[in-house]
Amino acid sequence: MARISVIGTGYLGVTHAACMASLGHDVVALDVDENKVTSLAAGKVPFHEPGLPELLQESLAARKILFTTNWADVATKADVHFLCVGTPQSPESPAADLSQIQSAIRSLAPLLTKPCLVVGKSTVPVGTAKWISEYLVANAPAGDDVHLVWNPEFLREGFAVEDTLHPDRIVLGIKDEVDVAVLTDIYASALTGSTPLVVTDYATAELVKVAANAFLATKISFINAFAYLADEVGAHVGTLADAIGHDTRIGRRFLNAGIGFGGGCLPKDIRALQARAGELGLSEHFEFLKNVDEVNKSRRDYVVELATRNLGSISGKTIAILGAAFKPDSDDIRDSPALDIALMLSSGGANVRLHDPVALPQVRNRNLPILAIENVEEVFDGADLVLHLTEWKIYRELDPKVIGDKVAQKRIIDGRNCLDLDLWKNAGWQITYLGKPGSQAAL
Ligand code: UGA
Repeated sequence: MARISVIGTGYLGVTHAACMASLGHDVVALDVDENKVTSLAAGKVPFHEPGLPELLQESLAARKILFTTNWADVATKADVHFLCVGTPQSPESPAADLSQIQSAIRSLAPLLTKPCLVVGKSTVPVGTAKWISEYLVANAPAGDDVHLVWNPEFLREGFAVEDTLHPDRIVLGIKDEVDVAVLTDIYASALTGSTPLVVTDYATAELVKVAANAFLATKISFINAFAYLADEVGAHVGTLADAIGHDTRIGRRFLNAGIGFGGGCLPKDIRALQARAGELGLSEHFEFLKNVDEVNKSRRDYVVELATRNLGSISGKTIAILGAAFKPDSDDIRDSPALDIALMLSSGGANVRLHDPVALPQVRNRNLPILAIENVEEVFDGADLVLHLTEWKIYRELDPKVIGDKVAQKRIIDGRNCLDLDLWKNAGWQITYLGKPGSQAAL
């Protein structure tokens, strides 16, 4: 079993640390945020991720994981250091902000006095791994004996534990073949299954991650562009997605039309990729990602337009919103299409009543002009319009007959195209889908 450190205890770091500990490795996880470390050491995960708190608590009880703010612990208790810090969008530009990576490497390098492996997992612009590798060799006392592997992470929020323990693929960007064995030992349980291993160079490994996210974002905006067409001509975008998805070269996944993508990854990654391509003089070849971003953002305006068309004017109207998180099984509201739409409606003068099964504390933390309602039964009271914006399972299980008695008008817009059309229609509702015939959007 390996002695591992995990640097950065955000979404990626906590999940990686708990999963590696659950495999029997000895893990020390570092963060510069003392409050976070204290809470994690007590077994509390600061975000909603199914299965993760249990895994963390088991690992803590088995003494397989230790949380610290002390860099010396990282150097003395581990031989393999996983770099998991965040690379958010820069506040000033579309590029990635690499300050957390730079700061982590600067703190780590002087402590590396023995041969060891640093493993980069954060999502970075291509060329970052080469810089880190050179910096470590130049600044670590162990010099050439500090090796770097680039090992991008593909986990999805909501499935983080499953994706970490049973990934679709493991990608290793290496400079020295000898380092592969260390990682294949650490990931042995995944690799004994059917997980493919791709061994390549740093630049390719870095690009695999950004290319994957850019492709997924492009698929979503592709189908959303067709949803506009479907609305215009009365076609059915869901059937269109099913039909093209039967072609295995295309595939059905990530072709769900609706209000588009959000979260802490796809939006910032397509912007960072455009910025990096620009630095390399390749802007014109990545123009399409600008369109992907624009189509995506336009879906939010489109829903506000549909709400206005439904109500004549939204000013003074009561609108009940189902969902605040950027996707179900997550309490992440970063760049959430649902929350963005709620805010646009509120600034247009609507009285917004918002429900989400887990994300309300995050919404309240931001002091927004929105009424956050804990109990889903109460969100509908007096509503002139209901918007279904995050496809939580509990919303698909709602009884439209019961809700019909609570609202002022039986009108709903399904921003995720997944409610049972007939069920709602038969209960007397006027339902608007995005890209489905017979709906308001198609008229
Ligand atoms: C994404 C990638 O899917 C992961 O592989 C990657 O590791 C991660 O980013 C990352 O870079 O860390 P995540 O942000 O958790 O994962 O969310 P996704 O499941 O990709 O969903 C992103 C957004 O697309 C959500 O807002 C979702 O509602 C939307 N979406 C997804 C659609 O609008 N339509 C679809 O068909 C699928």
